[in-house]
Amino acid sequence: MDVKVLEGEHVLQTYRRAPVVFTRGEGVYLFDDEGRRYLDLLSGIGVASLGHANPALADALADQARTLVHTSNLYFHPLQGQVAARLASLSGLPRTFFCNSGTEAMEGCLKFARRFWHTAGDSERTGLVALEHGFHGRSIGSLSVTWDEHYRTPFAPLLQNVVWVPAGDAAALRQAASAQTTAIVIEAIQGEGGVRPLGAEFAAAVKDAQARTGALLIADEVQCGLGRTGVAFGYQRLGLEPDLVAVGKALGGGMPVGAVLVSERVAAAISAGDHGTTYGGNLLACRAALVFLDALTSGGLQDHVKAVGAEFEAGLRALAARHAVVREVRGAGLMWGLDLTVDATPFVQAALRRQVLINRTAETVIRLLPPFVISSAEVEQALGQLDAILTEGVQERAA
Ligand SMILES: Cc1ncc(COP(=O)(O)O)c(C=O)c1O
Repeated sequence: MDVKVLEGEHVLQTYRRAPVVFTRGEGVYLFDDEGRRYLDLLSGIGVASLGHANPALADALADQARTLVHTSNLYFHPLQGQVAARLASLSGLPRTFFCNSGTEAMEGCLKFARRFWHTAGDSERTGLVALEHGFHGRSIGSLSVTWDEHYRTPFAPLLQNVVWVPAGDAAALRQAASAQTTAIVIEAIQGEGGVRPLGAEFAAAVKDAQARTGALLIADEVQCGLGRTGVAFGYQRLGLEPDLVAVGKALGGGMPVGAVLVSERVAAAISAGDHGTTYGGNLLACRAALVFLDALTSGGLQDHVKAVGAEFEAGLRALAARHAVVREVRGAGLMWGLDLTVDATPFVQAALRRQVLINRTAETVIRLLPPFVISSAEVEQALGQLDAILTEGVQERAA
């Protein structure tokens, strides 16, 4: 039966999919069911960090699948500690809780923050400060700190006592954070919200709020973390010191892996039995994470992202100078947004016709999250395609 018909009958219709069926991948390319090749500048929304069908990842997963896939968290296995140690040396946060997605990682952050204040005996601490345009997932907790009302309203009531602050408004943050604040929740570069980096002044206000109120800081690095922006974590660029960090996406290179990185003082407040998951940190997931973390650190992938990221940025800024429809170029490393003066939908459609995958976020923003392994030649190819897409999108709107 036709893929789309079968899905139409039996898959819950929560997604508006583009009309294309992908059956295989190779590096920065995907191939559809008719063998056509697409340049993937989105990597499954920031996930396929090592590119598609990466041989090292494939070999490791096949080997692990033949050895042992899963045991549950009732027992030890050799790989969780290894992944946690590598994450600790990248982040400076000594402990990791493993889960299976970014949403679960954020849910863990929110629970651990609550647990911290519960252990401290501070029953006044129930509030959260979250940023306008932030996105943290769709579970009840993570949705409660997600800005978009379209996502939140049908599921009310969510967590109470969330105070919203415009990202970048230091004065508003100063007013919002108080001795009732459990945690301040940030993305160093907001992803779904339109690729919006936080600035130095706002970061200083976050630090000030932490010091003044004692509120914990939760850094959601699910999209902007783990090397995506040319540094290990986006919060490091801002000199921030979070107590809890959520990661996911790039970590598994396509395997569903999420993690919460936890400071020593928060870890000290957590007891056995406080939180858990059947699959979190199983052997297959950890093996994937080890392949990715090895590539990132000892394999030189972090330096590669920095180098090709700079080429990408220069090219995007040159495109913006020539295309009046581009209002602003925002991002870092291999995380970029082209903020347009108009809705980005026709541009995404023009890209698909050219067999290029990009995505629209925050209505007017073209988002680019290519695989970390994209080469200089492929960056050139991407820039050439984007040049044509910007022209064709404008023409389509005018037609
Ligand atoms: C910053 C951020 N946090 C959390 C999430 C949720 O992650 P997941 O979709 O893996 O549950 C996302 C997903 O896009 C994200 O970008």
